[in-house]
Amino acid sequence: MASPPRKPLSLVFCMVSLSFFFFSCSFLASRSFPSDTDKVELGLYYESLCPYSANFIINYLVKVFEDDDLLSVVDLHLYPWGNAKIRNGTNTTFDCQHGPSECLLNTVEACAIAIWPDVNEHFQFIYCVETLVYEHKYPEWETCFEKLGLDPKAISDCYTSGNGTELELHYAAETNSLEPPHQYVPWVVVDGQPLYEDYENFISYICKAYNGTALPKACSNITLNTVYKEKAEPTGPVCNKETTTWSTQIRSAITSWMRKMNMAVSM
Ligand SMILES: *[C@@H]1O[C@H](CO)[C@@H](O)[C@H](O)[C@H]1NC(C)=O
Ligand SMILES: *[C@@H]1O[C@H](CO)[C@@H](O)[C@H](O)[C@H]1NC(C)=O
Ligand SMILES: *[C@@H]1O[C@H](CO)[C@@H](O)[C@H](O)[C@H]1NC(C)=O
Ligand SMILES: *[C@@H]1O[C@H](CO)[C@@H](O)[C@H](O)[C@H]1NC(C)=O
Ligand SMILES: *[C@@H]1O[C@H](CO)[C@@H](O)[C@H](O)[C@H]1NC(C)=O
Repeated sequence: MASPPRKPLSLVFCMVSLSFFFFSCSFLASRSFPSDTDKVELGLYYESLCPYSANFIINYLVKVFEDDDLLSVVDLHLYPWGNAKIRNGTNTTFDCQHGPSECLLNTVEACAIAIWPDVNEHFQFIYCVETLVYEHKYPEWETCFEKLGLDPKAISDCYTSGNGTELELHYAAETNSLEPPHQYVPWVVVDGQPLYEDYENFISYICKAYNGTALPKACSNITLNTVYKEKAEPTGPVCNKETTTWSTQIRSAITSWMRKMNMAVSM
């Protein structure tokens, strides 16, 4: 299903007459069509049911797809694993932060990426599912097949065959080898650098990292305004890696505190 890479006619012509026109050709090629080596790597480590992941995907990341110039300089990879954990004593079963439904949808989204490797195609599907997550309607995720005219069979085969689990374990390994390690999701990495809580400004970081000559128009305003800010306010809301531990700790602290208070009252 992958569409052939877009090669401008001028580039093909260049290859033919390479020895004569090397300089003008490389100018042409890099001028209007960023080469793959110029592309800025954009990684999103997320989990399907984290509301902040959904918010980032449908209200921020989608902007890349609304701007062909911007899309042409980005090499986007999605990693649907997030804060899930491989169960102790096993290598193949895992638990997800927001429960089994999240494991299901993480796996479905991993399958979508494998089945439709073109980012334009799998993003459409993931965008649709995450929109339902955002609207608290994720049990209706299967409506996305019909909405987008996609065949559900490939996804259900991927899921039931265990291939989806394989893919998830792959994403687990990639997430767990992040350096520095992720602390929460959404965890956005541009050109190898995590953006921490400034992730909503990811476009500024893309513009800053881009070394090619075809600077997207979207970067012209941003370079003036945002990029040179000393330090952005950490405002982005997140799903923390250790939420479970935290709430357990807080609950037990409150329980023991209440017990003490009761004792004080009854004494
Ligand atoms: C841009 O150039 C710098 C310095 O050569 C390099 O470290 C960086 O990785 C490059 N960025 C991209 C996106 O290629
Ligand atoms: C799983 O193993 C890790 C590391 O050995 C340990 O810290 C953790 O408490 C274990 N979790 C459970 C649920 O047993
Ligand atoms: C998990 O993987 C490790 C290393 O590959 C292996 O030694 C171990 O036996 C596996 N455990 C299970 C329960 O499959
Ligand atoms: C599962 O993966 C294998 C190996 O990548 C592939 O040959 C097979 O077609 C896949 N099966 C399904 C149902 O996707
Ligand atoms: C840049 O900013 C101006 C004024 O704020 C706006 O009208 C214009 O559309 C912006 N251009 C881009 C490419 O975002």
